[in-house]
Parts: sequence; structure tokens; C-alpha cells
Amino acid sequence: MNSQHEISIAAEPYQLFQQWYDEAKKGAEGVNKHEPDAVALATSTSDGKPSLRFVLFKGITRQLFVFHTNYDSRKGKELLANPHAALAFHWSVPERQVRIEGSVSKLTDAESLAYWNSRPFESQISALASSQSEAIVSRESLEKRVQELREKYREKGTAPRPPHWGGFGISPERIEFWEARSNRLHDRVSYVKSGSGWKAARLSP
Ligand SMILES: Cc1cc2nc3c(=O)[nH]c(=O)nc-3n(C[C@H](O)[C@H](O)[C@H](O)COP(=O)(O)O)c2cc1C
Repeated sequence: MNSQHEISIAAEPYQLFQQWYDEAKKGAEGVNKHEPDAVALATSTSDGKPSLRFVLFKGITRQLFVFHTNYDSRKGKELLANPHAALAFHWSVPERQVRIEGSVSKLTDAESLAYWNSRPFESQISALASSQSEAIVSRESLEKRVQELREKYREKGTAPRPPHWGGFGISPERIEFWEARSNRLHDRVSYVKSGSGWKAARLSP
């Protein structure tokens, strides 16, 4: 529970997001398995049904909320067909939620490559070996493929980024901040994009 009175309303939401994200990371320090970067990502199926999974938030680039994935995965295909998504963060210390909705675009090749090159070798190999979201014959066949790729690139110590692996950025049209309060009388503030600025409103919990 948070002691301060209410979420203050500002001209734009990025500063508050950054403050809350920093505080969530601080709150998670020393807490086993707590992952403040885990964020639920909602996409839509071609027949308009929701489709949801967690990804790892990789920060804000060019005001886009970024994550990396396989463009040929289920989420990748859904986003390329319908480039709209929603994110939901939940942080337990302090107890807060941030919801983000917006349009989605691929990061540039240079941005995706820079992140790929920063990943550990074994993570690169796993991404290369996995046709994410496709059915596989067996776990064993996947591990065999990992072993082959590991041997192929071991000497170089790095593996090439496949064109189907990269980042997406969500350009927010709406960001909502929620903070727990006593007696379930929580505090909510929403920001909705309005022209080049934002329109903020306090919402009933
Ligand atoms: C905490 C957490 C973080 C994850 N981060 C990612 C990620 O950054 N990128 C990714 O492609 N999958 C990530 N996954 C796996 C996804 O949840 C999902 O299983 C996978 O991407 C396939 O989803 P899809 O079939 O909807 O495309 C993560 C899973 C968890 C539980």
C-alpha cells in the first residue's frame, strides 16, 4: 500500500512511468524471482479474439515501449496483421499497475541488431534454434538443433541475427496508472493521446 495521497497529474505520462518503473526495480531488489520487466502483452487474433502472454520489457526507445521476439511467432503474425497491442505491468512493491495501449511497429534492423548483439551467445543460439510457436516433433529434436548451432558458431562466439527475430515498439495512445490504496479505494489516472499532447483524467477505481 502506498502512503502518499494521490497520483499527481502531469502534462505527459512518460516521467511518471519512468519513476514507477525505477521504484518497481528498487522494490524488487532481493525479492526472489520478482521480475519487474515482465509485462503481459495482448494482441488480437484474425477473428478479433484476445491473445495474451508475457514478454520482457526492454525499455523506451524513441518513445516506443520495446520488447523483442520472433516475428514469425503467433504474436508476431498477429501484430503484423493487426498492429495494435496492449501491455499490463504489475509491480508489487509498491503495489501498482500500468496499462498501455497503442499501435505497434517493428524496430529498425539496426536497433534489433544492436540488441541481438548484446544477448549472451546461448540466448542467441536458443532464439536461432526455435521456430517460436510452431509444433515440434520432440524436445530432443530441439536440443539436437541447439547443439548443431552451438558447434557451428562456437568459434566465433556469436551467432547471426535471423531476419525474423527483432524488436517491436508500442507507440502509446493511452497509458493508465493504478496504485493500491486502503479499503480498495485505489487511485487511477489515465492519459489519452490528444494531438501532440496528452489529456489526463482521474478515474473512479
Ligand atoms: C516472464 C516471461 C518473459 C517472457 N519474455 C519473452 C520475450 O521477451 N519475448 C518472447 O518472444 N517471449 C517471451 N516469453 C515467452 C512468451 O510468454 C511466449 O510463450 C512466447 O513468446 C510465444 O508466444 P506466442 O505463441 O503468443 O507468440 C516470456 C515468458 C515469460 C513468462
